[in-house]
Amino acid sequence: MNKSDPIVIAHRGASGYLPEHTLASKAMAHAMGADFIEQDVVLSRDGTAIVLHDIYLDSTTNVARCFPDRARSDGRFYAIDFDLHEIRRLRVHERTHLDIGRSELAVFTERFPAQPALFQVPTLAEEIIMLAGLDRSRGQRTGLYIELKSPNWHRQEGLDLSAAIIQVLSETGYWNRPQQVFLQCFDDQTLRELRHDLKAPLPMIQLIGNNSWDEDSEVDYDYLRTSKGLSYVASYAQGIGPFIPHIYLGKTTSGEVHLSELVELAHAHGLLVHPYTLRRDELPHGIDSFSELLNILIHSAGIDGLFTDFPDIVVDFLRKSMIT
Ligand code: G3P
Ligand code: CA
Repeated sequence: MNKSDPIVIAHRGASGYLPEHTLASKAMAHAMGADFIEQDVVLSRDGTAIVLHDIYLDSTTNVARCFPDRARSDGRFYAIDFDLHEIRRLRVHERTHLDIGRSELAVFTERFPAQPALFQVPTLAEEIIMLAGLDRSRGQRTGLYIELKSPNWHRQEGLDLSAAIIQVLSETGYWNRPQQVFLQCFDDQTLRELRHDLKAPLPMIQLIGNNSWDEDSEVDYDYLRTSKGLSYVASYAQGIGPFIPHIYLGKTTSGEVHLSELVELAHAHGLLVHPYTLRRDELPHGIDSFSELLNILIHSAGIDGLFTDFPDIVVDFLRKSMIT
């Protein structure tokens, strides 16, 4: 890889091929040569850091079949209502829709079948131990890219997500590896606390969503994308993780690509830019192929890294770009 090449972050593992956040999908991402592998982290009732995208268990596991009486009044099954020994009884499947009548339907219909539930929910510690083992057996140094999911919600429920993650990173020896670990969060206050109060020695990425999303944060994402907002982010973080449409705005009627100034602005504030999520099977409006998307974001916009469900394709694209 060229020094200037963007880093490839395997989004929820090689989730384009195997169910997200399973150890199988993480091992596959490792074998595909991802530079970093992502962990979304939430807590179980007994405070164990587990690798799961949602605060709910029902979109990716058979929890409703195993524990039919354990939903809250909103009908959802919350990870924080289950102890680790109960979560270990669950089996993970490809992400499915929860809408009534569609519960067996995969979100991405061409991916791994939704029916077999073959895998388990890993703890953060287990995943780190596996990746460290693969690093050793394969002679690699793969990074962790850990997202703190809904930290304010966890606090309201009586649990401290930051503390739980710090404990795992300390016990596994990763807390002092700034070259090998990124921390990411949608909530600015959580990142500021990690930087200033908890003295995190790790690079941090401020995720940027849309204000219309329910992201467990009071922050104004429109403001964060302005020069003043980016200056504020640079006071505690090393980069931003924007949504692709914050960079790629579309095409003109004559087919010209229209980009925002976000990457340039962020770079002017010394911030890295790692957009999410590049998917071969979910291309932005006006983009005809995955390689066109890669060309636009890497060569035209000049991003520093990217989250992708298909790390093998991006690694291959970067190798070929290096040759030509
Ligand atoms: O963390 C970057 C990206 O993964 C944010 O989106 O919802 O997939 O966690 P999400
Ligand atoms: Ca994430």
